[in-house]
Amino acid sequence: MTSPRVFHNFINGEWVESKSGRMSENRNPADTRQVLGVFQKSDAEDVKTAIDSAKEAYKHWRLVPAPKRAEILFRVAEMLVKRKEDFASQMTQEMGKIMKETRGDVQEAIDMTYYMAGEGRRQFGQTTPSELPNKFMMSIRQPMGVCVLITPWNFPMAIPSWKLMPALVCGNTVVFKPATDTPLSACNLVKVCQEAGIPKGVINLVTGSGSELGDPLIRSEDVKLVSFTGSTAVGKTVSEGCAPDFTHTHLEMGGKNAIMVMDDAKIDLAVEGSLWGGFGTTGQRCTATSRVIVHKKVLKEFIEKFVERAKALKVGNGLNPDVEMGPQISESQLKTVMEYVKIGKEYDGAKLLCGGNQLTAGDYQYGHFHEPTIFGDVDPKMRIAQEEIFGPVVSVIPCDSLEQAIEICNGTIYGLSASIYTQDVNKAFTAMRDVYTGIFYVNASTIGAEVHLPFGGTNHTGNGHREAGTAALDVFSEWKAIYVDFSGKLQKAQIDDFVE
Ligand code: UN1
Repeated sequence: MTSPRVFHNFINGEWVESKSGRMSENRNPADTRQVLGVFQKSDAEDVKTAIDSAKEAYKHWRLVPAPKRAEILFRVAEMLVKRKEDFASQMTQEMGKIMKETRGDVQEAIDMTYYMAGEGRRQFGQTTPSELPNKFMMSIRQPMGVCVLITPWNFPMAIPSWKLMPALVCGNTVVFKPATDTPLSACNLVKVCQEAGIPKGVINLVTGSGSELGDPLIRSEDVKLVSFTGSTAVGKTVSEGCAPDFTHTHLEMGGKNAIMVMDDAKIDLAVEGSLWGGFGTTGQRCTATSRVIVHKKVLKEFIEKFVERAKALKVGNGLNPDVEMGPQISESQLKTVMEYVKIGKEYDGAKLLCGGNQLTAGDYQYGHFHEPTIFGDVDPKMRIAQEEIFGPVVSVIPCDSLEQAIEICNGTIYGLSASIYTQDVNKAFTAMRDVYTGIFYVNASTIGAEVHLPFGGTNHTGNGHREAGTAALDVFSEWKAIYVDFSGKLQKAQIDDFVE
């Protein structure tokens, strides 16, 4: 057997070993016998070197005209297009989701890269008349400096691109710390950036564990912004770590997204949406449909169809084109799912309608597989209806009216995505207005946001920022207001009277 390939950190334009001398294996969650590579287990010293390199590179990169920075991003996008299939296949092996979805993940990175490359010529500010004569006023976007990007494993190329591309086009340099479970896709993305001509030091990659690298990344006084996507619990520690130095934080955290199915909904369509939102990506999306709030008049029909479809889903290795749902990312994530199934059954007393078991027969024994699982008779206050599970577990909650559905929908600590299935335009608009989430869908599932609208959520999902869309520029740049007085004399705003 050939020994697995060794991957390195990328610091100051070079692929280098960690100073720690430690490495860790990256295994396929669908078949843990397969080792995809060996990756650096970096330490605080590596982080320091990476931050120093980003700080040095910033001196030059911030002065490269934005349209020129963007030209490199266009090249990155084109190279990603060429390598899409290969990167998707590696991603499926690295984190388990099916090929259709990993192609979508790479595509989302392509979309974001093209989109942000376009922003190279669109970082518009404002000009506005002054209250004083012979005085000019404008606002401009300025880069910030070194940005730390901490990204999750469920969208190993898309989410890094949401952060990396706007950071770069705005003129920042970055230290990128991908999830421990998906360093391969991160290396693939960074390699493409290197080949496309991103200057040395502008992107630095350090792989390793969040618990070890978190503090040195977050608490460095040379870091201006930390952009983090992950759990609300970790987001809180990022926020606390950044607070003493007022380091900017951009946080995208948990969700407990709901689909509301009204009594006038097209039930088959709602079933499709719930299936896709609940079990797509094995439920491992922050936008995943974790609750379906169904009007009692259509509850029986909905449940019958939903359960039938869920039972028929083909679970397995995502490289197999017939497979519809892959494994959990890791043993610990599988355990979390199993723990929640237990909570649902024993503590909450919900009714298990289908699934509920780990899959272990045959080839399943080599991976972290779990059945698609649906609970019925769920009360909105139950733990399975309140806490983020991040797995293929959906709670069906009965309701009597639109008003009640909205109340249930809003009744968690999160606020990322939600949806309504209805044929009634009045109900749709009421829900659009009254559901307190950052993303809302009508007659579509809770997943599938596109890159050119803002992405993020309310409550404990976020901290008021949005990524993607032009909103991303607000995260990765700072406004500067500039006043130019060409009157040749001292003029005092708010004090001088203008006399003709
Ligand atoms: C996530 O779940 O972490 O809207 C991101 C979606 C995808 C991105 C999801 N475009 O479902």
